[in-house]
Amino acid sequence: MSGRDFLAMEEWSPEMVDGLLALAARVKRGELLGGLERKVLAMVFMDPSLRTRSSMETAMFLHGGHALCLEPGKGSWALETELDVVMDGTTVEHIIEMARVLARYADALAVRSFPKGTDWAVEREDRTIRNFAKYSDKPVINLESSRRHPCQGLADALTLREHLGETTGKRFVLQWAWHPKALPTAVPASAAIAAAHLGMEVVIARPAGYDLDPDDYTAIETLATSRGGSLTITDEVDGAIDGAHAVYPKSWGALSCFGRPDDERAFREGKRDWRLTAARMRTTAGGKGIAMHCLPVRRNVEIDGEVLDGPQSAVIDQAENRLHVQRALLLEVAGRTS
Ligand code: CP
Repeated sequence: MSGRDFLAMEEWSPEMVDGLLALAARVKRGELLGGLERKVLAMVFMDPSLRTRSSMETAMFLHGGHALCLEPGKGSWALETELDVVMDGTTVEHIIEMARVLARYADALAVRSFPKGTDWAVEREDRTIRNFAKYSDKPVINLESSRRHPCQGLADALTLREHLGETTGKRFVLQWAWHPKALPTAVPASAAIAAAHLGMEVVIARPAGYDLDPDDYTAIETLATSRGGSLTITDEVDGAIDGAHAVYPKSWGALSCFGRPDDERAFREGKRDWRLTAARMRTTAGGKGIAMHCLPVRRNVEIDGEVLDGPQSAVIDQAENRLHVQRALLLEVAGRTS
């Protein structure tokens, strides 16, 4: 592990995170050019992406560096991520060699690896991203793992600051949303951690049975209270959104059904009204609260199209801010910041 890995926002000090957000604002204003000349970022994508891959490639290009992208099993060797395994099956390359070899070529590694297993007790250890960090002697950036999507969290924080100004004490609602598939908890946990970092009144509105991992609640509450905010968990979605300054609808699967999609689908039945509607947005603070989403979003399933296309939508700003926060992060871990 390099000591400069960015695997979870709460693992960096609040001062470091504030420094990154300030640097992101500076690069967004065009105040810092270059800084990554002759630097190489090696990206490993085990799962699809639009924003993360294109914004990381663009960030490296804008500051004079180069990003290479590998997709194990699609042009690079099928990857084995279990440590103690007899590799007599379909996998060809082991995570230990992949991390060590890429660290010889590159100045930083960046990895996307969604949960794939059937056992939350295993997935919650976030072994793949943690093992990349363990075996790489260059910084490793988490591009969404089983537990966290910290680059998305940074972009969410920058967007909240830009739209709301002073964030302390303002209400951020993480609203569980119905979705045809059971999705991971990395984004909702990271969004709530970002709002907690900003000292917001974090409200998680979810149906009974859709709690995040208990460690996530601890991380959110600890950070929120240390920064002047709070954490409340409720199943009253309308009450939560009424008077909110920011609403972040996001779906995630019930952890009690993890790895059992048919059971989870049955558990999810009857909850399609957990959607961010235009009517709900009209009840936000002054009728002007912002609607957020990491994207990709299922229109008229998670959020009404009218909300996404309306003046309260911040979703494209969030996507743009992925670029700026990652420029700052890459300058911090692999380049120069002045
Ligand atoms: N928000 C996000 O990470 O988008 P992609 O999955 O398209 O990278």
